[in-house]
Amino acid sequence: MICLILLSLLCTLFLGSNFDLWKQQHSNGSVNHNTKKFGQGMEDQELLNFLLRRLVRGEDRIRLEATGLACHSDLHTGVCVSNRPVRIDTRTLKIYASFNRDMPQAIRIIQPYARKGDATAMSFVSPVQILEGNFSPPACEYAHNVPAVVFSSGGFTGNLFHEFNEVIIPLFLTSRRFQSRLQFIVTDFQLGFVRKYSRILSHLSRFGTVNPALNGSVHCFPGAVVGLHYHGNLALNATGIPGGYSMRDFKKFLKESYNLKKVKLSEKERPVLILVSRPMTRTFLNEREMVKMMEELGFEVVVATPHKLSDLEKFSVLLSSCSVMVGAHGAGLTNALFLPTRAVLVQVVPLGLDWVSTNYFGGPAAEMGLNYLEYKIKPEESSLLSVYGRDHPVITSPASVFLKGYKAARAVYIDRQNMSVDIVRFRVTLVKALGLLGRSATLLEESVF
Ligand SMILES: *[C@@H]1O[C@H](CO)[C@@H](O)[C@H](O)[C@H]1NC(C)=O
Ligand SMILES: *[C@@H]1O[C@H](CO)[C@@H](O)[C@H](O)[C@H]1NC(C)=O
Ligand SMILES: *[C@@H]1O[C@H](CO)[C@@H](O)[C@H](O)[C@H]1NC(C)=O
Ligand SMILES: *[C@@H]1O[C@H](CO)[C@@H](O)[C@H](O)[C@H]1NC(C)=O
Repeated sequence: MICLILLSLLCTLFLGSNFDLWKQQHSNGSVNHNTKKFGQGMEDQELLNFLLRRLVRGEDRIRLEATGLACHSDLHTGVCVSNRPVRIDTRTLKIYASFNRDMPQAIRIIQPYARKGDATAMSFVSPVQILEGNFSPPACEYAHNVPAVVFSSGGFTGNLFHEFNEVIIPLFLTSRRFQSRLQFIVTDFQLGFVRKYSRILSHLSRFGTVNPALNGSVHCFPGAVVGLHYHGNLALNATGIPGGYSMRDFKKFLKESYNLKKVKLSEKERPVLILVSRPMTRTFLNEREMVKMMEELGFEVVVATPHKLSDLEKFSVLLSSCSVMVGAHGAGLTNALFLPTRAVLVQVVPLGLDWVSTNYFGGPAAEMGLNYLEYKIKPEESSLLSVYGRDHPVITSPASVFLKGYKAARAVYIDRQNMSVDIVRFRVTLVKALGLLGRSATLLEESVF
C-alpha cells in the first residue's frame, strides 16, 4: 500500500499528472477509469476547482474558497483566479467574476503580463478590469465548458528572451496542469506572436486563442485565471506557485511540442557549433576569423542571426542537435532552451554587462542542464576603448556608470558596443568547451589537416 502511495506520488511528481492525483484523492485509492471527460458534468467542477486552487496559496486560497475570487500579487506579476462562473466582455475587457447581489462592489485592475515593475513594458499592456460584488453582468453570447486564461501578448514581445521569460514559461507554469482543457484569451493580440508559438499554444490548449479585438462579445466560463505566474529570469521553481514544474519539465514540453528527437552528442562526427551573429550591436567585428578558428578546432560552424534563429519551426531541430552555442550577451541566447543536455553555452560578456549576463543566461543555463562558459571581453577587445580612452570611467568603472542610471548605461554598453574578439584567448575557451564535450582539440585538428 505504502509502495502504491509512493509510486503514485512519484508519478505525480514526474509526470505532472494531477488528474490521477485528483482521482486518487476522490476514489479512496481505486482509480476510476470511467471518470468523465473534463467539461461534462458535476465532478468536473470539482477537478477544475482543484486545479484552480493550486494557483493561489495561504490567505488567498481561503479567500478563493469563501468568495470565488482571489488574487496573488508579487514584485513581478499579478494573477487573479476565480473558481466560480465568470463572464468576460471582450469589447471592454471587463471580467464579471464573483458577481453577487449581497456583496459590495469592488473593481480590480490587472495588467496580465509578468513584468510589473517595468513601466516601458507595461505601457504596451492593456488593463483588464475584474468586477466583484453587486454588478449585473451582460448576458452570455458564448458558453464555454473550460476555464479562461487571460494574458497579454503585448509588453516586450518581439524579443525572444522576453517572449519566453514573460509569456511562454509563465504560461506553461500557469496552465500546463489543465491538460489542454482551457481557453486562452490573448489581449494586445499580436498575430506574429501567436503564429510563432502556435505549437506551444496548441500543446497547452486544445482550443484556438480568442482575440478580443476581433471577437467583441460576452463569453461565459466555469472559472478563470487572469495573468500568469512568474518565477524569475527564465526560471521554473518547482516549489513556487503552482508547484511541481522545473526547467527539466519545460524542456521536455518543448521537445514534445516541436517533435524533437533525443540526440546523443557523442555520436556526431563533427560537433555542431552555432554562432549567434548580431548585426547591429554587440557585433563580433572579426566574425570571419572566429569562424576560421572554430573550424580549425574541428567544429561544424553554423552562423545565424538571432532573428533567423527565432524561427523555431525551422531551427529547433538544428538547435536540438547542436553541441556548442556561442554568442554575445543578448536575446539570441534564449535559444539555449532548445540545446540538448550537456551541450555548452559560451556567453561572450561585453564590457559592463557581467551582472545581466550571469543573471539572465548564466544561472538559467545550469538549470537547463547545460555546461556554461563565460568569455569576458577586455577593454582592448571592445569598441568602447577607442571612443572613450583608457582612463574614462566607461572603461575603468562600468559599475559607476550603471549607478548613474540604467538608461545611460544601457545606451553605452548594450546599444553602442561592438567587439573584436582576441582569437588566441578565445580559442582557449573553445578548447575547454571541447573538453566538456569529452573531446580533445588536437585529435580533431589532426583529422582536419
Ligand atoms: C471514501 O471513503 C470514505 C470514508 O471511508 C467514504 O465516506 C467515501 O464515500 C469514500 N469515497 C469514495 C469515492 O469511495
Ligand atoms: C468568437 O468566439 C466564439 C467562441 O469562441 C466563436 O464561436 C466565434 O466564431 C468567434 N467569432 C469571431 C468573429 O471570431
Ligand atoms: C522557490 O519558491 C519557494 C516558495 O515560493 C521559495 O521559498 C524559494 O526561495 C524559491 N526558490 C528560488 C530559487 O527562487
Ligand atoms: C557595430 O557594428 C555594426 C555592424 O558592423 C555597425 O552597424 C554599428 O554601427 C557598430 N556600432 C558601433 C557603436 O560602432
